[in-house]
Amino acid sequence: MENSFYLIILIIFFFTLLFITYYFHKTYPELKWDWKDINLNKINFPNNFIWGTATAAHQIEGRCENNWSEFEKGYKSNGLPNIKNNQNSGIACDSWNRYEEDIKLMEKLGVSHYRFSIEWSKIQPTENDINKDAIIHYHDVIDCLFEHNIVPVITLYHFTHPIWFEKKGAFEKEENIKYFNKFCKLIFKEFSPKVKFWCTINEPAVMTSMGYFNAEFPPGKSDPQLCAIVLYNLLNAHVEVYRTLKNLKHGSESRIGIVKNINHFDPWKRWNPFDWIATWAVNKFFNNSTIEFFKTGYYSVKIPGLMWYSKYNENAIKSNDFIGLNYYSHNYLKFNWSISDPFEIKYKYDDIMTDMPYAIYGEGLYRSIKDISVLKLPIYITENGIADMKDDRRALFIKRYLYALSKALEDGYDVKGYFYWSLLDNFEWAFGYDMKFGLFEVNFETQERSLRKGAEVFKKILSAN
Ligand code: GAL
Repeated sequence: MENSFYLIILIIFFFTLLFITYYFHKTYPELKWDWKDINLNKINFPNNFIWGTATAAHQIEGRCENNWSEFEKGYKSNGLPNIKNNQNSGIACDSWNRYEEDIKLMEKLGVSHYRFSIEWSKIQPTENDINKDAIIHYHDVIDCLFEHNIVPVITLYHFTHPIWFEKKGAFEKEENIKYFNKFCKLIFKEFSPKVKFWCTINEPAVMTSMGYFNAEFPPGKSDPQLCAIVLYNLLNAHVEVYRTLKNLKHGSESRIGIVKNINHFDPWKRWNPFDWIATWAVNKFFNNSTIEFFKTGYYSVKIPGLMWYSKYNENAIKSNDFIGLNYYSHNYLKFNWSISDPFEIKYKYDDIMTDMPYAIYGEGLYRSIKDISVLKLPIYITENGIADMKDDRRALFIKRYLYALSKALEDGYDVKGYFYWSLLDNFEWAFGYDMKFGLFEVNFETQERSLRKGAEVFKKILSAN
């Protein structure tokens, strides 16, 4: 009797796993194109399509004193430095001083838009101090952009904040959102007569997973539950900022949106139900929770044994005039029966790797556009690019991803523009200066910039479109 009971339980368990595998396999196909059959010269864009490049203050300006510059001095629990080989951002590309030179490079490239961030810690170095010189500096940058016929696109928060804000607990505490809101209000009042295109927060899920799960970004914690809370606070901060700015003068004529990174996690083995369960959990946190929040107002990350958090904010539904999509690649995930390392990232033998720990996957851009289109908002690709020190894959990357983008447009998706990451080689966070994302190579000894051979195809596509 007892034996047959266990047998029935076992059979039910087996069929449940089979069902999970079948259901996920059918619901989440991994898009793969046969690139041999694709004509990469057939890339067309509408006349009014927007072309730009993107950067972030901490990565290019130099001399930042914020949560990141503090983190750069620290070490991980295993004794290794937080930043590869103990590098630090230092003077970076010295763009604080060389912005005019950089703007001329954009002009040479033929882009019409530039997405950059305002460094909060330079504007408000202490809680009660506003640095007027820093405000004047950003006015100069914006004016210079206009002189060169380039439209400014401001990001209000790109991973960095002042040290005083960090000391208050940053976005770990919901009550701290008011400080960020106040900063955004100040910046908007100052620049909105000139700037009509605004990104609030860059990649909340990247920032939280790297800062509160992997411990590779500040504050270097590994606390999944806190990770879920910080992500919600960042999304909520966006909603509050959106409402605040929209109610200010120039609010209604400005386009304001958040920037979402999509990185799909695909199962290492499509027949393995545990790989599917692992990808479901990671996709739920990293991709789907944000999309669902803006679609329904519900934020829910309930992953047994990892994080358990849900909230509702009805204002989330109408809190974007557009959605910014950052897209780089996808990852294969293998589930391990190990508490310390349950999610293992894997690569396939035929993957063409970038210098970052991910492959070239142009199809993913199409897939992400499709996913984000459920929000029914105009889409801007606010970042896309490759780290390629040897410059032997950049041209292929650009052609494949732009092909995927042109196909998405052809299929009716509402994509309005594309910003290449990045204009220049720059400080690539935990990787330091080892990653070369620039269309322009930077010699960090002399600060000389030069157009990479692999970037010429981008210039060509721009001039043809
Ligand atoms: C994004 C981030 C950028 C840049 C890029 C390349 O996640 O927003 O600042 O680092 O990745 O890795």
